[in-house]
Amino acid sequence: MQVFHGIGVGGRQYKKAARGIKFPSIKGSLSKELLRKLAPKKTQYAAVDIGSREIKVVEVSTADGYPEVIASGRLTTPAGVLGEPEGDEDLVNALNEVVLYSGIQSKEVIATISGDRVITRHIKVPVMPAKELETAIKYEAEKFIPIPVDDLNIRYLNLGEMESDGERYLHLLLAAVPSSFVYDYYEIFIRAGLVVAAIDVQSLCLWRVFCGLDTSAARAGTAGILDIGAAATQFLVVSDRGLQLSRTLPVGGNLLTQSLAENYGLEFQEAQQLKEEQGELLSVEAAASAAAGAMQMDYSLRVGLSNLIREIRRSLDYYASLKDATTIDRFIISGGTSKLKGFREFFAEAMEVPVDFGHPGIPGLTGGGAAEPLPFDPAFAVAVGAALREIVEDV
Ligand SMILES: Nc1ncnc2c1ncn2[C@@H]1O[C@H](COP(=O)(O)OP(=O)(O)OP(=O)(O)O)[C@@H](O)[C@H]1O
Ligand SMILES: [Mg+2]
Repeated sequence: MQVFHGIGVGGRQYKKAARGIKFPSIKGSLSKELLRKLAPKKTQYAAVDIGSREIKVVEVSTADGYPEVIASGRLTTPAGVLGEPEGDEDLVNALNEVVLYSGIQSKEVIATISGDRVITRHIKVPVMPAKELETAIKYEAEKFIPIPVDDLNIRYLNLGEMESDGERYLHLLLAAVPSSFVYDYYEIFIRAGLVVAAIDVQSLCLWRVFCGLDTSAARAGTAGILDIGAAATQFLVVSDRGLQLSRTLPVGGNLLTQSLAENYGLEFQEAQQLKEEQGELLSVEAAASAAAGAMQMDYSLRVGLSNLIREIRRSLDYYASLKDATTIDRFIISGGTSKLKGFREFFAEAMEVPVDFGHPGIPGLTGGGAAEPLPFDPAFAVAVGAALREIVEDV
């Protein structure tokens, strides 16, 4: 097991370990400094978010002094599981295609890792020297991860000091990924002509995109952030910009698709298309005079949504049970499922607090939503956050 400060796996580190590539060593700090000055300043940053429904790519430029999205693209994620030879081939081809047509120019990319591949935990350890911290983290990781720690890549992010019962503690976000998965990931990107500069955790991408910029909405009070994808939902609680909690819920828009498939007697893909093109949740007033077809759609969606809401409530209860919990005064939503027509209103009613679509507040973003004309496609939140990795200072 290797433990490093800071979350994200360095591409060079990997290449060195896995392929035996040697990098020329620069002797003396003077030449290192000189090299840094001579190297052109990086102004373009690209990110690839391989979601279970869609691959999203984004390129951000800071050439004009502020971050701006200069290219983006999306493509259906091919069926097939990462790690299976045939699935890998399709994924390589899909990556090639989306990079080509989106026009992103950087060959070095930040990749995100899906929620079910990474195990993240918030832990609290007494304040201690960095050397002892590594042993403490290993010990903590062994407690909650059923995989031998030597087969894992473990990273941590220090979220700051906190006080509890008169003792000082460090609040750490731990992320662990099986090493074999990390190597497979790098391999796939290399085959698609891309170098993974770092693998990022989705919750941090979301923090960056919605809380990390001066233009961000979530700068005061306590906000719940939900990125509702297809297979998973990322849930964060941010209080006065500090990340208090992040969790991956194993539920998302697929629940709605399955519910539609059962109710309409359709295959999954057909039900997904029906949901994305015609899905609509009705308000109480609209339901009073709705046609039978609209009622059937509304009912089918709500059956799937009830499970999603149950999972969200469970996490809210968990947050409320924490010692430092404060009242969540609003929600910020993103992810493809938030585009469902009527979802924002439905969710606001269920949570009894205001709910808004998250917007990074940076130029160049294209709109989205077959159903609602949104200024920013919420499915891109994680990808944009990943592209901001080297631009916005973390937490
Ligand atoms: N207009 C729409 N109405 C309803 N649902 C939609 C709409 N557009 C997309 N979705 C749903 O959003 C989900 C995809 O969202 P997103 O792209 O955020 O997920 P992903 O990142 O691919 O998946 P995950 O994060 O779970 O791995 C799918 O379930 C899709 O059917
Ligand atoms: Mg996603």
